[in-house]
Amino acid sequence: MASGTTVVILAAGKGTRMRSRRPKVLHPLCGRPLVAWVVEQALSLSADRVVLVVGHGAGEVGPAAQEAAGSTPLEVVVQEPQLGTGHAVQVAAHAIGDPKRVVVLYGDMPLLRAESLAELVAAQNAAGPGATGVMTARPEDPRGYGRIVRGAEGEFECITEEKDCTGEELAIAEVNLGVYCFDGASLKRDLPALSNDNAQGEYYLTDLPGMAVTQGRPVVTVDLADHHEAAGVNTVAQLADARWVMQARILEQHMEGGVLIEDPATTYIDYGVEIGAGTHVLPCTYVHTGVKIGEGCEVGPFTHLRSGTVLEDAAQVGNFTECKNSTLGAGSKAKHLTYLGDTHVGAKTNIGAGTIFANYDGRTKHKTKVGDGVFVGSGTIVVAPNLLPDGVTTGAGAVVTRSAGMQPGDTYVGVPARRLPQRAAAEEG
Ligand code: UD1
Ligand code: CA
Repeated sequence: MASGTTVVILAAGKGTRMRSRRPKVLHPLCGRPLVAWVVEQALSLSADRVVLVVGHGAGEVGPAAQEAAGSTPLEVVVQEPQLGTGHAVQVAAHAIGDPKRVVVLYGDMPLLRAESLAELVAAQNAAGPGATGVMTARPEDPRGYGRIVRGAEGEFECITEEKDCTGEELAIAEVNLGVYCFDGASLKRDLPALSNDNAQGEYYLTDLPGMAVTQGRPVVTVDLADHHEAAGVNTVAQLADARWVMQARILEQHMEGGVLIEDPATTYIDYGVEIGAGTHVLPCTYVHTGVKIGEGCEVGPFTHLRSGTVLEDAAQVGNFTECKNSTLGAGSKAKHLTYLGDTHVGAKTNIGAGTIFANYDGRTKHKTKVGDGVFVGSGTIVVAPNLLPDGVTTGAGAVVTRSAGMQPGDTYVGVPARRLPQRAAAEEG
């Protein structure tokens, strides 16, 4: 069903204050680029169209945003040169269509919640024809934001950019977040009237609400209660602050789902990780995007799970174990000083301390398969590609070369590892 909404995401800026060559909106936040979080906000509005304005790093920003948008096609518009946020929307005007309303989001505001956006749209809708909705907040430190200037009765007058503020205006605590809901027709009519007669010589989108007031149209503000949502990312330090807030949200969601996180302060779990109920996550653990953890598992302390890791139910990974692109089957354990790379481990297998699956020969990565009920002795090195069938045992320090040719139930010891005859194996076991 048509929602009558177009969302425009502004992501053309260079992000000079990051002092980085990478376009600002591509900096990662909990496992995905800033712009991906904003795309998710846009999708929450079930918009008929999502327009993305790109400029700096356009060739990378567009695809990253499209990946986050999944099957929703983004209309990508290139703004070149970048003459301000108002100019960005001017450039996108043809792609906006003729919607009832236009929501504008800035690509550097990853923390905004879908509920707050819905509130803004509802407020704009309730304020009558031609209304503008502006999201505001009162952060602890208003520096860097445009200020909300109000009249004697507290009525909205205009937004003044910090660099254009008088001393008195600088003291205003209420700031503009850069999130707006415009009436579609009014926006298209007003856009060409923006001027760049200001301290930065830019076309400010922030001038539009003031223009609406002059024309006698209603402007409503929605004041964000949780000012953390308001944090724009302009500097590396602000990126770190935003990461902190986002991380807390992700951990909260897992805890609500019954994941026991012993120490949230030292637990890093990126976006989109699946974790089953009853799993225990111990301190100093980092779990990347693209990891799936079953129920009743134990992870950590000091564990690093990278993309492509699957822990089946009741699997355990512990101290200084790193996994990448690997599966650890139900009830299997790799509890100490182990690297599992490109390895598929079956159920109820024990991977001894200090085991390395040597997956890289200097040119290519290779896979190893380990069966069920395998006992890998401490300090084993398995050279990939390899196969350790069900019920195999390796002695401590074994180096299992590619040509080992193990059969189910075999015991292999030594360097390079050789098969122990059955009787000797029984004595050793
Ligand atoms: C902007 C607002 C300010 C608000 C703050 C909230 C304006 C003029 N100012 O300031 O009132 O308090 O956000 O975080 O809007 N962009 C383009 N094209 C351009 C310029 C910018 O696409 O020509 C994009 C940037 O990539 C960025 C967003 O617009 O994602 C905001 O630009 P930025 O320079 O960060 O604006 P602020 O100075 O933070
Ligand atoms: Ca900004």
